[in-house]
Amino acid sequence: MDIPRIFTIAESRHRIHNPISPQKLAELGESLDLQPGMRMLDLGSGSGELLCTWARDFGISGRGVDLSTAFTEQARHRAAELGVEDRVEFLHGDAAGFVEENPVDVAACIGATWIGGGAAGTIALLRRSLRPGGILLIGEPYWHRPPTEEEARGCGCSASDWLTLPELLQSFLDLGYDVVEMVLASPDDWDRYEARRWIALRRWLDENPNDELAEEVRGLLRTEPLRLARFTRPLLGWGIFALMPR
Ligand SMILES: C[S@@+](CC[C@H](N)C(=O)[O-])C[C@H]1O[C@@H](n2cnc3c(N)ncnc32)[C@H](O)[C@@H]1O
Repeated sequence: MDIPRIFTIAESRHRIHNPISPQKLAELGESLDLQPGMRMLDLGSGSGELLCTWARDFGISGRGVDLSTAFTEQARHRAAELGVEDRVEFLHGDAAGFVEENPVDVAACIGATWIGGGAAGTIALLRRSLRPGGILLIGEPYWHRPPTEEEARGCGCSASDWLTLPELLQSFLDLGYDVVEMVLASPDDWDRYEARRWIALRRWLDENPNDELAEEVRGLLRTEPLRLARFTRPLLGWGIFALMPR
């Protein structure tokens, strides 16, 4: 059970598998008043940067669940590197339906809301692990403006996959949550996320010219820079939203 290998190859150099900077993650942690001893759950925890750095900087503890063996391994290494391996645990597995026995202070799903069938379903799933008064974190794309279907396809999705930012915020309110913080990706954050893939792909291709994925990787190197410039950068936003049940 694992994610497709192409993602592992493309994001082998990423610590954060989303268009958000380490500085913004740190600012978000500060803003949420995280305190030593608080506990967190992160579904789709990737390479564990959020949990590991917040454990180091704010003294929280927590658990991450991710379907990628490679990213889970990287997360465990990162925990050891930052000296927080006694406080954070990374489980390899499917996070769909994962609920903590003991409710946590912060329950997150940052950029993997398909786990719960979309943002609303993932919020409902995370809520089952949240203590009263706790905070949910949801990482989700949004449109800067409603796209044409062709533009949406250029972003690798369809127009109905995402809302605009006002619509997304309204949807959280309609679900019965206060939106208490948000950090949004800048064009530069998109570059750091997307462009970092290109050198990983190129280096991998140089080392694995006869691999069964070589042709696909060669194709991505031809299409991805233009896709970012034409479609993703101008059209797609991305943010982490902090929610508290009303
Ligand atoms: C866009 S990445 C975000 C990772 C991390 N939250 C971050 O911001 O760095 C999505 C993550 O979801 C994981 N994933 C995909 N499907 C999953 C599932 N069913 N259960 C758990 N993790 C899953 C992938 O392996 C990947 O690490």
